[in-house]
Amino acid sequence: MLTTNPKTLSPSPFIHKTLINPKYSSTSPKFLNFNSLIRCKCNQVTERGILFDTGETFFRQESAIGRDLGVLSAALYKQSKGQLRVLDAMCGCGIRSLRYLVESKADFVLANDANESHRRVILENLAQVERFQGEKKRWVVTHCEANRVLTDCYLQRDYFDFIDIDSFGSDSSFFLRAAFSSLKLDGLVYVTSTDGYSSGGHRPFHSLAAYGAYVRPMPYANELGLRILIGGAVREASVLGYHVTPLFSYYSYHGPVFRVLLRMNRGKLPDNSFHINDRDYGFICYCYRCGNSQAVSWSELGRIRCPCSNSKDAASLVVSGPMWTGPLHSAAYIMEMLNLAEQWGWVGNGAGTDLEKLLKRMVEESDPRLPFGYIKLDEVACRAQTNTPSIRTIMNSLHKEGYAASRSHIASNAIKTDCPMAGCIRIAKILHGC
Ligand SMILES: C[S@@+](CC[C@H](N)C(=O)[O-])C[C@H]1O[C@@H](n2cnc3c(N)ncnc32)[C@H](O)[C@@H]1O
Ligand SMILES: [Zn+2]
Repeated sequence: MLTTNPKTLSPSPFIHKTLINPKYSSTSPKFLNFNSLIRCKCNQVTERGILFDTGETFFRQESAIGRDLGVLSAALYKQSKGQLRVLDAMCGCGIRSLRYLVESKADFVLANDANESHRRVILENLAQVERFQGEKKRWVVTHCEANRVLTDCYLQRDYFDFIDIDSFGSDSSFFLRAAFSSLKLDGLVYVTSTDGYSSGGHRPFHSLAAYGAYVRPMPYANELGLRILIGGAVREASVLGYHVTPLFSYYSYHGPVFRVLLRMNRGKLPDNSFHINDRDYGFICYCYRCGNSQAVSWSELGRIRCPCSNSKDAASLVVSGPMWTGPLHSAAYIMEMLNLAEQWGWVGNGAGTDLEKLLKRMVEESDPRLPFGYIKLDEVACRAQTNTPSIRTIMNSLHKEGYAASRSHIASNAIKTDCPMAGCIRIAKILHGC
């Protein structure tokens, strides 16, 4: 029986030339004849004007922005390199593969999902794009374990430009090395973790096993989730003689989900056998007594003190790491994403979409003066024994005093700033006339 349940995820006016809509399907052999869907149990969804079936697969509408970010990045890659071969290692119903083909104009997509029972729905979704272009296939569907498909590609020297690993929990750590092996130099890996327990410091030995980072509970746990994911990738790439840098890092509370786009290159950075800048890969220390945070390099281990205490008693300090302590995004890259999103009508015209807000906030967060972490305004208020100051007011005061300050895309009632906690407390007291 037909159980259609069409949902429109994004009312964006983005209309691609090859817009996929049932009303066009019968007029062009390029498109799937949607009459075939009538025979099966369908769960139809529209995302950016593209209609597809999620069937019985794992599909989250809330991940639409994560897919937008991937599609924009893959499209930028195609525009700059003139080619785009994508490996969607955990494709679910195949929506990303379809969007990489249609919107990013991928030349080829390998859509893989270990679960063979997804095959029908993936094939029907991808059938909206003609399978062959001349002699060449534009897409292929496989059902292998992700490491197997990645390793097979590596063994066959079949390298990809863009690899998407949309896995559960901290499983991504298990696939990263194989992904880097089968990626072209200067290629991109888009990787996901949904392991909120590890970022919260609730299972440090698990994060140690997965990403090589021992994580303790800290107030900016969700930023740590991004940093341990990047750090784990840095470590895996380093084993192979590559270095990776994040182009953007995206946290979403649905899940929670941590997503990072990494660019991979060969070789060491100058004076460094770890293929990475010492400043960007190290430890993070938080003081529960005064609320101050500091980055700690490898050479400073064993000498960690907090300015709030002259004693050697470090009981108030917790240290997490090693992990990525460098920038979470490249501002220049995010500007390119914003420009493309504007060309596509996804942002701009006063629409104020969530995507636009996110990208703009990522640009703000990329100020090189801003350190890791964020300061929650409730913590400032608690320590200052005042009401919680408004974000705008405290940011104005910080800017007037010459500090860098921005909002965080990760936590709505928090700021990123190079002002220490003591300074934020002082400002909160002044604002409340204390
Ligand atoms: C989060 S869902 C993918 C969602 C999809 N990328 C999207 O945007 O809608 C993860 C998928 O990975 C598949 N999967 C889980 N472990 C896998 C593995 N080791 N290798 C390949 N696929 C796997 C599951 O069957 C599931 O469909
Ligand atoms: Zn302290």
